[in-house]
Amino acid sequence: MSATSCDSPSKNSPAYDGPAYRQAYGRINGMVVVGEGLADRHFRRLADMLPHDREELLRLGAMEARHARDFVGCARNLGVKADAGLAQRLLSPLQQQFQQAEAQGDLVGCLVIQCLIIECFAVAAYRLYLPVADPYAAPITAAVMADEQEHLNYGEQWLRPRFAAVADQVEACARRAVPVALGMLQELGSDLATIGIDPTELVAEFVVLFQESLQAIGTDAGAARQLVNRLAARALA
Ligand SMILES: [Fe+2]
Ligand SMILES: [Fe+2]
Repeated sequence: MSATSCDSPSKNSPAYDGPAYRQAYGRINGMVVVGEGLADRHFRRLADMLPHDREELLRLGAMEARHARDFVGCARNLGVKADAGLAQRLLSPLQQQFQQAEAQGDLVGCLVIQCLIIECFAVAAYRLYLPVADPYAAPITAAVMADEQEHLNYGEQWLRPRFAAVADQVEACARRAVPVALGMLQELGSDLATIGIDPTELVAEFVVLFQESLQAIGTDAGAARQLVNRLAARALA
């Protein structure tokens, strides 16, 4: 990403002080802040499940907590109140899947949900938000995006050497969780469009990142493409 993409808003920048932008921003910012808080909790749960990596996972969780605080600051800067209620409702099915995986001792499922699916989703969303972000939020978003990439890398590095043993669990988890993750977008489409993010492009960006991630851990390219496209098509139907 170039420095200019942070420093100067694009010529397609939305009117940040308009009522439509502010309402949509409140809902999207709520999703971001609640989602970052959820990621923090997930990393702390993972730290308990993986004592060998405990310090590292607590560090990643602390980064998520910082992201949440930084994005609260972005809403405050625009004088917008985040809609946490909507975010909690939309994020609840994904949170439940993580809790279910944890209750079943499915560490692979927990890692796939947080470190692959949620992180790919975060990177995709922040990548598309960055060019249309207001000048206060843009450098924060750029820094957060780099952190999310690090979280994604953690998951990939854990899963890659164990791929043969975990491949079926990864696929089963993706089949359950990807449609749920993409389903969150169904109620956010017009808000995303209002703040300058094309929801279809967001799905496409997620599909590319998640497919790359599956390949990075060892999934055959054709199988990864087929799985991700099928899940995305089902979520969008
Ligand atoms: Fe984050
Ligand atoms: Fe993250």
